[in-house]
Amino acid sequence: MSEIVRFSVSVEDDLLGQFDRYCKQEQFATRSEAVRQLIRDRLTQRAWASGSHEVAGTLTLVYDHHRPQLRDHLMNLQHDNTDLIISVLHAHLAHDLCLEVIVLRGPADQLQTIAAQLRGLKGIFKGELVMAAADP
Ligand code: NI
Repeated sequence: MSEIVRFSVSVEDDLLGQFDRYCKQEQFATRSEAVRQLIRDRLTQRAWASGSHEVAGTLTLVYDHHRPQLRDHLMNLQHDNTDLIISVLHAHLAHDLCLEVIVLRGPADQLQTIAAQLRGLKGIFKGELVMAAADP
């Protein structure tokens, strides 16, 4: 953990009012906590674009497990990317429906590539990648 530094920010009062409502709705303990999280979110987004930063993330997939070959394709892609995939959680949602949460870590561009390959398979209903800085 690095040292905490204080800095002041000038902002329009109506914008500060909106921000305070946001902090209350999102239940942040302090404005500082909210600002820190917003800064981290923004910098993480920038890191994705550059593709060079190490990030951690989850890919949530919802799919029809009766779709021909889908299970095989999912399994093969995951076994071909064991350097990026840390863990997988599987939940059987309904007779035909499965949910998988795949935990990933690695260069942002590689995570985006594997996420695109996985969620692009036929039979995937939803695929959402969420990434966070691996070393905040
Ligand atoms: Ni299942």
